[in-house]
Amino acid sequence: MKRVQLTTANPGQSQHSYLVILAEKDGLDRLNDILLPSETSFLRQGIEREVSHFFFPRAEGCVFVRILKNDTDAAAAAEIARLAGNEFLRDLRQYKLESVAVRNLCKQNRSLAFAEGLALGSYQFLKYFTQPEKKEKILREIVVEDAPEQDIAELNALLKAVFLARDMVNEPQSHFDAVQLAAAVVAAGSEYGFEVEVLEKEKIESLKMGGILAVNKASSAPPRFCILEWKPDSPKNEKPVVLVGKGVVYDTGGLSLKPTDGMDYMKCDMAGAATVVGTLAAAAINRLPVHIIGLIPATDNQIGERAMAPGDVIRMYSGASVEVLNTDAEGRLILADALHYAKKYKPDLVLDLATLTGAAVRALGTQAICYMGTAPEQTKRALEKSGWNTYERLVELPLWKEFGDELKSNIADLKNIGSGNAGMITAGKFLEHFATEYPWLHLDIAGPAYLRTANGYRTKEGTGVGVRLLYDFLKKQYV
Ligand code: BES
Ligand code: ZN
Ligand code: ZN
Repeated sequence: MKRVQLTTANPGQSQHSYLVILAEKDGLDRLNDILLPSETSFLRQGIEREVSHFFFPRAEGCVFVRILKNDTDAAAAAEIARLAGNEFLRDLRQYKLESVAVRNLCKQNRSLAFAEGLALGSYQFLKYFTQPEKKEKILREIVVEDAPEQDIAELNALLKAVFLARDMVNEPQSHFDAVQLAAAVVAAGSEYGFEVEVLEKEKIESLKMGGILAVNKASSAPPRFCILEWKPDSPKNEKPVVLVGKGVVYDTGGLSLKPTDGMDYMKCDMAGAATVVGTLAAAAINRLPVHIIGLIPATDNQIGERAMAPGDVIRMYSGASVEVLNTDAEGRLILADALHYAKKYKPDLVLDLATLTGAAVRALGTQAICYMGTAPEQTKRALEKSGWNTYERLVELPLWKEFGDELKSNIADLKNIGSGNAGMITAGKFLEHFATEYPWLHLDIAGPAYLRTANGYRTKEGTGVGVRLLYDFLKKQYV
């Protein structure tokens, strides 16, 4: 697949035939040098009627003018520009344009955010069509005038990373089992420059990672445990940040089988893993001076005669015993082993990302990530701030001790489900049991990770949520 590239040109200098100009209502005079007097008066009349898109044909191409609403809040203003960028795709497609230049006439420079929304919205996953070229709506290049080369390179890297995460989520399990997922992680590592080690089933067995092995019991494909590392020459952090991603390549629910309606998109259950891979890719391409480890436990959750059964007791990697009362609560079992493994790095912070509960989807829908954890307040506020910056917003939920009481088992150290209420919190309490010895945050991305229909520049199916968020957070928190 050919994917869009951002480039830059001198301020006001691009000789591009197709130009989109970003302007605000209270700065229209700036358009006088570009538009003819008759065009300016047409534009002013339109603006009075709340029109925000204009199109002026030229002999050699055309000029689009987009009037952007402003906002005193910088994050909100950036999101307005991203959404406008995405909407502009319609114009580009109507005129079958493959390349366009963006010129900023707003008070603040909003062209990068506009280009970001335009590029993110242009993503397509066409791999499995017999004639993909017939479906392809190509946007090859966005020339962002007057943008620092470094910002353009950074944004290109982020786009690559988000598209990589989306591609991984969009792969169906028929073509992407745990072994194929691990191979894709190795390939991404060699392409973008981070290290990857893959633990195979024998190693996982010898380590006694009982959570991963139990979930994998009915699978025809063996499990994998991927260890990713981006270690720059002089990292700003002494102790690494560890990112853990749920890598359930397909979740049938196991013997606690899901109903048809809930199963049809369970290829998305490795979205946490995809976010971890995307974030390491973005960090490595941009040579972010932060030492990051990624951990991905990967398997599918299948039914079959060898499957783990409700009522089984399993022994986790940490040594704890767990009574499995619902085999559909499998994500926490594989994450628990990875969270225990994370201790060996003596990390500065551990963040896990997982499509963990339907409860998170019911509570917050697709707009927010529901998160919780033991990290300090400052870390939580910084993450929330990055949530606003990237518009991958987060809502914190409490980990009060009383929620943990629901996990008491009659025959083992804990059981894997609570009472049914506040399911995203009891899932968090289960993970907290294993996430000891370091500050930790758990991000339940079940809502925003996968969309049945597009929402703005978040294209349908895998969204790659978390990549832009974590990159922004790691950069602001550590660099
Ligand atoms: N993978 C699902 C959660 C999920 C739901 C992801 C919707 C994406 C969209 C997870 O493994 C699961 O099935 N959780 C159960 C837990 C329950 C049995 C305690 C759930 O939320 O129903
Ligand atoms: Zn499940
Ligand atoms: Zn699951």
